[in-house]
Amino acid sequence: MKKETHVIDWQAFLFRTWLIMPIQVMCLKLLLISDLHSNPYALEAIEKTESWDEVCCCGDFVDYGPFPMETIRWCIDHHARCVLGNHDAYVLGLSEISCTEAKREHRFRWAHDNYCQLTEEGLDFLRSLPRSLSFSADGIKYQVQHQYDQAYGTIESEEQFDAFWTGPQKKETERRLVFGHTHRQCVHMLNEHTLWLNPGSVSYRRPDDHDKRAHYMIVEQGKIRFGKVAYDRTPLLNRAEAYLKQGTMLETELQDAFFFFGNALTSREPLPESCTKLPKTEKGDHDCETC
Ligand SMILES: [Fe+2]
Repeated sequence: MKKETHVIDWQAFLFRTWLIMPIQVMCLKLLLISDLHSNPYALEAIEKTESWDEVCCCGDFVDYGPFPMETIRWCIDHHARCVLGNHDAYVLGLSEISCTEAKREHRFRWAHDNYCQLTEEGLDFLRSLPRSLSFSADGIKYQVQHQYDQAYGTIESEEQFDAFWTGPQKKETERRLVFGHTHRQCVHMLNEHTLWLNPGSVSYRRPDDHDKRAHYMIVEQGKIRFGKVAYDRTPLLNRAEAYLKQGTMLETELQDAFFFFGNALTSREPLPESCTKLPKTEKGDHDCETC
């Protein structure tokens, strides 16, 4: 077995316990991030642009990017308060056997690549993540969760907000729900004291959005600012190109990567010329042995 069991790391355990404890902070500069998707280069660009007191991440640390451990390591090193995303849960559900089968059956995806890269520390980090967390800052109550429902549903009324909110229902207190998952930055006000927001994705946009910058939000003394910063995506594209040459990854996964990290105009553009000219195997994947 590649994944080794080991004795409990008490320092790491206490650190993670601290992460999920409620916090009460005054005069806070908060960095909100989400949907990192194995992209530490976008995180480093944000770090060069901003400073903050606390960082909070709304999940999806892995999948659809090439560097899962570097991304998780950044969050650990920066003492980020984090919740579990649906892609994190999916990768945790994989195994070495399922990855081997995926490669053999020509359906190998970024999720399988990421699972193979995760060390025991990375797996422990993802396993330790709560589904939601709460904290207060500058007199405002926050509740953080990756997604509102199992699809891309949003909260449209105060009634829906109150039903979702797990803390005290004090209407005079300002309350904010923080979501990820949609990869779209927004602030949705239900009234002057109640809103939900989404910092967008650090890593990549949805197919209809061609902005390649890293998205995030800064909340300083309660005031929300939208952040976007450009960064060098070359190292991420290089990994996709290496998979293209190997011919082991599903074509649609590589098309996604060429859209996210390259200059493809859509997420279903034909792959680079040198490979598309090659014959396809009977399974439909490109034979890139000589690509
Ligand atoms: Fe995501």
